[in-house]
This record gives sequence, C-alpha cells and structure tokens, in this order.
Amino acid sequence: MTVLAIETSCDETAVAILRGGDDHSHELLASEVASQVAAHEKFGGIVPEVASRNHLIYAPRLLDRATRAAKIDLSKVDAFAATSGPGLASSLMVGASIAKGLAIGFGKPYLAINHLEGHLLSPFFRGADGGEQIKPNVSLIVSGGHTMSVLVRGLADYQLIGSTVDDAAGEAFDKVAKMLGLGYPGGPEIEKRARGGDPNRFDLPRSMPDSENFSFSGLKTAVRYLLPKIEERRLTQTPYRLDAGVLADLCASFQQAVIDVLVSKVIVAAKKYHVDLVALSGGVSCNQELRRQLHEACSRKGFEFKSAELWLCTDNAAMIAFAALLRLQAGFKSKVTEEIDPNLALV
Ligand code: KG4
Ligand code: ZN
Repeated sequence: MTVLAIETSCDETAVAILRGGDDHSHELLASEVASQVAAHEKFGGIVPEVASRNHLIYAPRLLDRATRAAKIDLSKVDAFAATSGPGLASSLMVGASIAKGLAIGFGKPYLAINHLEGHLLSPFFRGADGGEQIKPNVSLIVSGGHTMSVLVRGLADYQLIGSTVDDAAGEAFDKVAKMLGLGYPGGPEIEKRARGGDPNRFDLPRSMPDSENFSFSGLKTAVRYLLPKIEERRLTQTPYRLDAGVLADLCASFQQAVIDVLVSKVIVAAKKYHVDLVALSGGVSCNQELRRQLHEACSRKGFEFKSAELWLCTDNAAMIAFAALLRLQAGFKSKVTEEIDPNLALV
C-alpha cells in the first residue's frame, strides 16, 4: 500500500510518499520539505498570507520532485492524505485541496489527518528498518503551536491529559528569542546560546506545578521583567543586547525552566496512567537537553523512552503519511467533502 501525503498546516510545505508492508513495516520512498523560514524571518513570525502563497508555489514542485524520487506514477498511489488541521486556514486549504483533487482524479481514498496525530505517532516511525506496533504510552507533544500530554492507548484511541493554558513551549522559546534579539525560529537559537551557560544563574518560575496543564506565558514575562535588572543592559537598547556570558546563562536558565516543567509533568502522568513508555515529539523535541534530561528521568523511574528522530521532529509530511498509512491499514477513510478545521482537536 502506497500513501502520498501533503503537509501545509503552517509555514513548511511538505510532500512524502510512504509504502507499507503487511508486517507493520514501512518504507519511505520520498520526503520533501520546502522551508519558508527565510520568507517569514524578517517579520519575526509567520504571516499567513505569505505562507499560503508560498504553499501554492512549492506544493506542485514538491509533488513532482517526490514522485520522481520515489519513481512512482501518481496513478499507482493507493491513497492521498493531507493535514486537515489544526493550523492556518489558508495554508491548510492548499494541501487539502490538492490531495482531494488527486484522490478524486485517480479514484482513490482520501485521508484527512490531524497534524497532532502526525507528531504523536512520529516516535514509532522507523523507516526501512521495519515498523513497530503503537504501544500504550504517555506522549508529550511540544511544538510552536501546541504543548500537550496525551494518553495513547493505541491508534486513534487518545485521551488528553494536559495542555497549555496560554503559550506553547515553542512559542515561549520564539518570544524570548525575539526579546533577546535572536533569530527566528527561537528554539534552536536559544539552545545554541545556552550551551556552556549556567542553568541556575537566574531564578525563573516553574508554573502550575500541581496541575496536569502547562503554562509558559509567566515564564516569558519573568524573562521580560528580569532583563532591565541585568546590569549589562544599555538603557536605550531594544531588543536588549547582553554580554555573551550573561546571554548564555539566561538562555540556559530559561531552557532549564521549560525542561523542568515538561519532564516533571510527563513523569507524573506516566505513573498516574500506568504506562511503560514515554514518547516525545514536535519541534521543541529537537532540543538535545530536553531529549537527554527526559531520557534520564525515564531511565531513573523505569520507563522506556522513545523520541521522534530529529528530522521528524519539526513539521514534515512523512509523519502525516505514516499516520495515514496506519489509518488506512486499520480501515479508516475520510470523505472528500471533509473540510479543513484550523482548530481541529486531537480528541
Ligand atoms: O513542530 P514544529 O515544526 O511546528 C509546529 O507545529 O509548531 O515546531 C516549531 C517550534 C518552534 O517554536 C521552534 O522554536 C521550536 O519548535 N524548536 C525548538 C528547537 N527546534 C525547534 N525549540 C527548542 N529547541 C530546539 N532545538
Ligand atoms: Zn507541528
């Protein structure tokens, strides 16, 4: 069974082609991603109109490139899938319309895939090495748009444990990076500066310690109030330009505050819901310190730990194709009349 998936929920245009075997194995035939970071960088965030226009330009090119890389004719694809939400409406429409058109044109099934399910299943993606069954797990999805913990009982059997009541973890990274005059996206910039910094130098809050939900806007505000108090500030500068050592300590302290909250909450949830496995996915899971510390905490507490491979953490179509393949094999299909939903919930 061969699935072609298109991902256009935000600012990455992506197309992937995945072939599934009978024994849960899968082989990735093509995975193309066109990043729009450069187009949005100068605005310090994503501009929806710019994103959708770029999707319109890139999607047909990536379709062409992916089919050539996979050496497959579109008529030989067994199902077409697209991310149907959550995301930017005008971006989602581009990918979904193309996938629906292909499904109608070639008389094949269409699958509307929830972007969050793509992230959620991505730790189980193992490419040509053979697949794995989706084992029950507590899954932490941390991206620019979402921060949530989910109890996964199996495919399409999910229970939301907690989610952010304000900013997503990645959003906090991006906003703090902007305050510090660093580039966009902020996560990799902060991670880079944090290396060698002292994570205990600045005392930043760990919000809502007794809740299953997350909150990161207080942390972001704490950084904002801290900045004027740091001696090295030059009064008229915005954004602040800090001495490299102070910047490293501040980035490390901020990063550690985010990690502490994520690790402690996911461990509490894994104990409460009696799972053996903790899974990690989403753009923020590129962060090596988060991966290392969560892995260590899981080992200490006796949980298996599985994180999405690095190239699968940020937005891509391989994870959407993987979710579509598993759903197709389990007998799910969507109607081509199914509309995109910018606020689509996972459960
Ligand atoms: O999953 P993703 O590509 O897009 C969404 O679905 O949101 O996640 C993008 C987010 C951005 O906020 C970015 O700053 C963050 O992931 N990110 C990181 C790192 N790499 C990307 N955050 C922390 N550390 C990183 N190394
Ligand atoms: Zn994402």
